[in-house]
Amino acid sequence: MNRLVINGGRRLSGEINVSGSKNAALALIFSALAIEGETVLLNVSDIGDVRVAIKLISSLGAKVEFASGRLLIDASTLEYSPPDRELTSRIRASTYLLGASLARFGRFGITAFGGCNFSSRPIDLHIKAALSLGADLIDDTLSAKELRGGKIVLEKPSVGATVNAVIMATHAVGRTEIYGFAKEPHVLSVISFFRAAGADISIENEKIMVAGGGLHSVRFKVIGDMIEAGTYLAFALVTDGEIKIKGFYTEELSSFFSAVRAMGYRIKISKSELLATATGQLPAVNIPFVTARPYPGFPTDLQPIIVPLMAKNRGGTVADEVWRGRFGYLDSLSPFGIAFEKGESLATVKSGITSPATVKAPDLRGGASCIAAALAVNGRTEIYSPEIILRGYENITEKLTSLGADIKLEAL
Ligand code: EPU
Repeated sequence: MNRLVINGGRRLSGEINVSGSKNAALALIFSALAIEGETVLLNVSDIGDVRVAIKLISSLGAKVEFASGRLLIDASTLEYSPPDRELTSRIRASTYLLGASLARFGRFGITAFGGCNFSSRPIDLHIKAALSLGADLIDDTLSAKELRGGKIVLEKPSVGATVNAVIMATHAVGRTEIYGFAKEPHVLSVISFFRAAGADISIENEKIMVAGGGLHSVRFKVIGDMIEAGTYLAFALVTDGEIKIKGFYTEELSSFFSAVRAMGYRIKISKSELLATATGQLPAVNIPFVTARPYPGFPTDLQPIIVPLMAKNRGGTVADEVWRGRFGYLDSLSPFGIAFEKGESLATVKSGITSPATVKAPDLRGGASCIAAALAVNGRTEIYSPEIILRGYENITEKLTSLGADIKLEAL
C-alpha cells in the first residue's frame, strides 16, 4: 500500500510541460492494432493505464518497445485470443479491443471493461456500431467474416464508440459514414492518425467518412493532455499561485478558462502555452455554474477538479451532462471541510476549505480533486490508494515538487 503525503498551504509557481494525452494515447495504442505494420507513437506518457494497454496488445501478439515516450508497436502478425479479463477490467480503454479485434480477427468476445467507477458505463453504442457494419452478436460474441461499410448513427457523442467505429471502418469493405460522433481532440487525433497511415478518411458536414483499406506503417505524435493542463491550472490557482503551462493546444481548454476567469482569475493565453495568475478578486455576484458537456463544452474530467477552486472562492454549482451524477467524489472532499449539497443532476458547493484530511482517492479525477484541496490548506494531508491517480498523471509528485509543493509518495 502507498500513500501521498502533502503538506499544503504553499503557493505554487513556475512552469511545467504537460505530458502526452492519456486518452489520445490509449485510443492510438489500440488503433495501431488495425495496421499490419509498424506504428511509432511519440510523446506517450508512462502511466499505469498505458502500461496495461501495452500488456493487452502484447497478449494478442503485438511486439512492443517503450522507452522515453517513444512507443513502437509492430502489429504485423497478431493472433486472436480471448481478452484477459483481469487486464480489461482495469482500464476503460480496453473497450477499443472490440473494434480492433473485429477489424483484425473478425471476432470479439465481450468481457468486463474497467475504468473509473463513477457511473454506469454501457457499451450499447459500440455494439450497435459493429452491427451497422455487418457484425453479428451471438451470446457475448461479436463476429463478422467481413466488415462491410455502412451508416453508423451514434445516439450520443460517445468518445469510445466513435473511436471503435473509426477503427472498424478502416477495415470495412467499402465506405462508412459515422454520424453523431464525439469531437474531443483525442478523437480527432485518431482520425489524423489513420489519415497519416494512409486511410481515406475525412470529416464533412457533421459526418466522418471512411473508405476501408490501404493502411501502412506510421509515425505519429500524441497531443498534449488538456485535462492534465486544466488540473495543474486548478492546483496553482487554489494556492494563490502563478503558473505557466506549456505543451498543449490552449484552444482545447477554452470552456475551462471561461469558468476560471468568471471566478476572477487572470489568464494569458497564447497558442500552446498559458500563464495563469491567482487574483480571484471579483465581486460576490460571480458564483459560477458549470455544466460539463461533450466537447467543446466544459470537460467532464475537469468537473471534479474545479470544485476545490470553487470552494476556495465563493462556492459554485456543477452539473454533468456527460456522466449524470458524477458527484461521488464529493464525499472524499468533505473531510477537508468542503460543504456541498448533492442532487441528481447538480451539486452545489459552499465556500470554504477548512482543514487538511486523511482520505482515500475515490477515482482518478476525484483523487486529483483531493490533491487540489490538500494543496489549498495548511497542514498534512494523507491520500491513500494513490495508484488510481498515478494511472493518469505522469510524474505528478515530481511536477508538483518542481512548482514548490511539499508532496511525497510513501510506500507503506
Ligand atoms: N454511452 C452510452 N453507450 C455507450 C457508450 C457511452 O450510453 O455505448 C454514454 C455514457 O454512459 C456517457 C456518454 O455516453 O453518458 C459518454 O461516454 P463516452 O463513451 O464518451 O466515454 P468513454 O469513452 O467511456 C472517455 C474517457 C473518459 C471521459 C469520457 C467523456 C477514455 C479512456 N476515457 O470515456 O475519461 O470521461 O470519454 O469525455 O478515453 C478520465 O480520463 O478520467 C475519464 C473517465
